[in-house]
Amino acid sequence: MCGIVGYIGLPEKTSQHSALDVLLEGLRRLEYRGYDSAGVATVAAGTVSTRKKSGKLANLLAEIDAAPMEAASVGIGHTRWATHGAPTDQNAHPHLADGGKLAVIHNGIIENFAQLKAKLVAAGEEFSSQTDTEVAAKLIGQYFTGSAAGDLTEAMRLASSELEGAFTLLAVHADQPDRVVASRRNSPLVVGLGEGENFLGSDVSGFIDFTREAVELEQDQVVTITTEDVTIINFDGTPAEGKRFSVNWDAAAAEKGGFGTFMEKEIHDQPKAVEDTLLGRTDASGRLVLDELRIDPEELKGISKIIVLACGTSAYAGMVAKYAIEHWVRVPVEVELSHEFRYRDPIIDDSTLIVSLSQSGETMDTLMAVRYAKEQGARTLAICNTNGSTIPRESDAVLYTHAGPEIAVASTKAFLAQITASYLLGLYMAQLRGKLFQGEIEDILADLHKIPGKIQEVLDGGDQIRELAREMAQEPSVLFLGRHVGYPVAMEGALKLKEIAYIHAEGFAAGELKHGPIALIDQGQPVFVVVPSPHGRDSLHAKVVSNIQEVRARGARTITVAEAGDGDVVDYSETVFYVPETQPLLMPLLTTVPLQIFACALAAEKGYDVDQPRNLAKSVTVE
Ligand code: F6R
Repeated sequence: MCGIVGYIGLPEKTSQHSALDVLLEGLRRLEYRGYDSAGVATVAAGTVSTRKKSGKLANLLAEIDAAPMEAASVGIGHTRWATHGAPTDQNAHPHLADGGKLAVIHNGIIENFAQLKAKLVAAGEEFSSQTDTEVAAKLIGQYFTGSAAGDLTEAMRLASSELEGAFTLLAVHADQPDRVVASRRNSPLVVGLGEGENFLGSDVSGFIDFTREAVELEQDQVVTITTEDVTIINFDGTPAEGKRFSVNWDAAAAEKGGFGTFMEKEIHDQPKAVEDTLLGRTDASGRLVLDELRIDPEELKGISKIIVLACGTSAYAGMVAKYAIEHWVRVPVEVELSHEFRYRDPIIDDSTLIVSLSQSGETMDTLMAVRYAKEQGARTLAICNTNGSTIPRESDAVLYTHAGPEIAVASTKAFLAQITASYLLGLYMAQLRGKLFQGEIEDILADLHKIPGKIQEVLDGGDQIRELAREMAQEPSVLFLGRHVGYPVAMEGALKLKEIAYIHAEGFAAGELKHGPIALIDQGQPVFVVVPSPHGRDSLHAKVVSNIQEVRARGARTITVAEAGDGDVVDYSETVFYVPETQPLLMPLLTTVPLQIFACALAAEKGYDVDQPRNLAKSVTVE
């Protein structure tokens, strides 16, 4: 939600980059975080220059082409997902203060902006936008010319201490052209370390083309970057140290790799995402080793209840986790949307394990729910795809997924990686608590290791799915049914179609059909059915086959996703997509893939921007 980037380099070093190039490259990579508007500010020859434009980054590039900026070696850049104020040129960041000498960009929401604005207006400030950001800019400006006495770091610190809500702020000032100053509370910010140059970004993709060495910051800190130094202080003025880390993927991983869209590429990355998430997590004797969890195994043995917290696609991965963990570990697992969880009165104690699932590690709803659970005494474990992000940093334990950077707004490979990591967690807890025999765990792990090859088989058969998507492009509504682990897969299939193809789609538990949704079935209504393995729980397969017959009898066009060799569905399906056989609990890693390909191809057929669907942004850092 909003991408931010900052840069400072030495102008005289020939190896240095131009600030504008670095900023625009960073914004290109961060555009997935918001694309309502984009803007940059640079400082050169004692002047701050800005260019900003509503709409996608391309509009800003055209603006800069039309009105080129002077060469500069320091600047900030922003790509916006609108919260306060419509996505207009005026509301685009940067916002200016101190007579145009100070430029500020912001990610997050400043909750007390109305009170602050009233005070600033009373003090004579004039506003030219409806944003909360401009309030922060004017406040920093007031401190800069007032009690901070021309020190941008101090002005940022004083202003930030007065702000409520969530924010990452970046500022440059014409009178201090040797620095970029930033602050953060509840919003992401990482520092990139270069030689004779330093970077700031919402995440590491903001500077991955230039460095893979980074520093993560804590809550309520101000960081000042110059060409040579990175200085961190807390909001109370005390000095602080950041934590260094190296990014384990390179710029090529964040490119389309020959595919037309990031989403297609990421769907095809899935064999590797699962493989990498499994990698290195067993010892020579085949036992699972998750030392990286940072949690005492004895504590995991004492857990009496697990609550999985997540939003959107990640919550569907959490639902799959529930089926697997309860079955293997015999511990009750609840799954709850993060934003619902903390506004009820959940029963939590120190034997409760909170497992948060988040691709970005920055989703505000999930972060707040994790904090709330911690305050209530729960142990917290994050399953996360983004190194250095806030949720894993604030959790007691972390299990990273290794899907690599996910750029398309609609999540695909992170979903399969989250499910894989959840299986590992379940098996590890079963191993610790002696709930499965070692041989059983090894069998499941062996089947998990075969999954990447099987996903590849599904991908290789993608043309059949794409053909159907082209044919169905004009359908106004599509329903999805599933049962057991197929239920969250059905929900995910529907979500993918809603978010990128803007088609009405619903996912239902197939058993729920007769309790209402079957009334929706009319002549020709397309219904996807995720069919459980015929080798699974007694009668479940037969029940779903009956559900297919029920909708078909009422005129539905049935499309089934079934296990290879399942002949029972053929007579009742207009189209069958077969996926290779695996253990019933592992099937979501395969049955999800045709639904992703379908949504992606259908959206493309309709001419939509698959990677940047309307109204959405990746990494939802507002509540
Ligand atoms: C859907 C999608 C979202 C995210 C949700 C949680 O394709 O991407 O529903 O899954 O916003 O995001 P994370 O996993 O980053 O917490």
